[in-house]
Amino acid sequence: PRSKGWWLDQLLQYQGFWLSTYSVRGSMLIDDHFNPRPTDIIVATSPKCGTTWLRALVFSIINRNSFDFSDHPLRKANPRDLVQFLEANIRGDGSTASIDGLPSPRLLSTHLPYSLFPECMTDDTSAYRFVYICRDPKDVLVSKWHFANKLRPKGVPPLSLEEVFDLFCKGVSHYGPFWDHVLGYWKASLESPKKVLCLKYEDVKKEPLGCLRKVANFLGVPFTPEEENKEIVEEIVKLCSFENMSNQDVNKSDTRSLENPISNSDFFRKGEVGDWVNHLSPQMSEILDQITEQKFQGTGFSFH
Ligand code: A3P
Repeated sequence: PRSKGWWLDQLLQYQGFWLSTYSVRGSMLIDDHFNPRPTDIIVATSPKCGTTWLRALVFSIINRNSFDFSDHPLRKANPRDLVQFLEANIRGDGSTASIDGLPSPRLLSTHLPYSLFPECMTDDTSAYRFVYICRDPKDVLVSKWHFANKLRPKGVPPLSLEEVFDLFCKGVSHYGPFWDHVLGYWKASLESPKKVLCLKYEDVKKEPLGCLRKVANFLGVPFTPEEENKEIVEEIVKLCSFENMSNQDVNKSDTRSLENPISNSDFFRKGEVGDWVNHLSPQMSEILDQITEQKFQGTGFSFH
């Protein structure tokens, strides 16, 4: 079969999920080589659910007293350079040097499903925290489709929406099945609400201020009355908005290299809720709704 580019190349089925080889290796090495600190914070997402946004928001909340908003690191760097991927930073030889040197509280990012973390990190008695964001699967699918076609190797024809729809519904996409990824974190957030906070992209769009306060409370750094008076929450929302971030030079320029084939600009497309209506047929939408309903039935989770 012809190469599917980013969508399918090197995806392996591991512990019930479709992962890239480097994620499988990373997850296998976490247990033996990663030294979690009780103050670590993990920004967890399934791809295209708002990783870039959540990294920026949590980074800004945690570091709000360290930087001036007019000269903030987010004006000069893409969030992926400020919040490193945990699984990508455990080298084949088990070295974690690139994240060992980070000051506490360490802020790391992951796409790994919750069930792949070792017990010492998910154990209810540990102080470890995960902030998770998920998104309506219809928008995730459309976002992933565009992303996959942007990253398509030269000479590879574009993937059709029908093709990726079929794969996505079968659970075959990076870190899929999508619904199982969500459920892992959702259930953990119910069982261990001090350890896992579950957000929805749609809620953060609709009520950014309330969501940011929730994240700050969860992380044990609530906004003080003085900070509220100075409208710091509003400043963070503005700084991390799609409009602001996608217009920073660092996110507009082509940063593609051999080592890193994904450009900063690839993480910004529309940043909207409901763009799926412009792409999915009524039948596709109905099928996705049915799968979503079936998967989430009886779990208390819903996107509406
Ligand atoms: P769309 O393709 O629907 O526009 P990830 O960061 O997990 O890769 O997700 C990328 C998606 O989040 C893209 O969605 C992108 O446009 C959107 N996005 C990126 N930055 C954002 C921001 N600051 N606010 C809201 N959405 C953002």
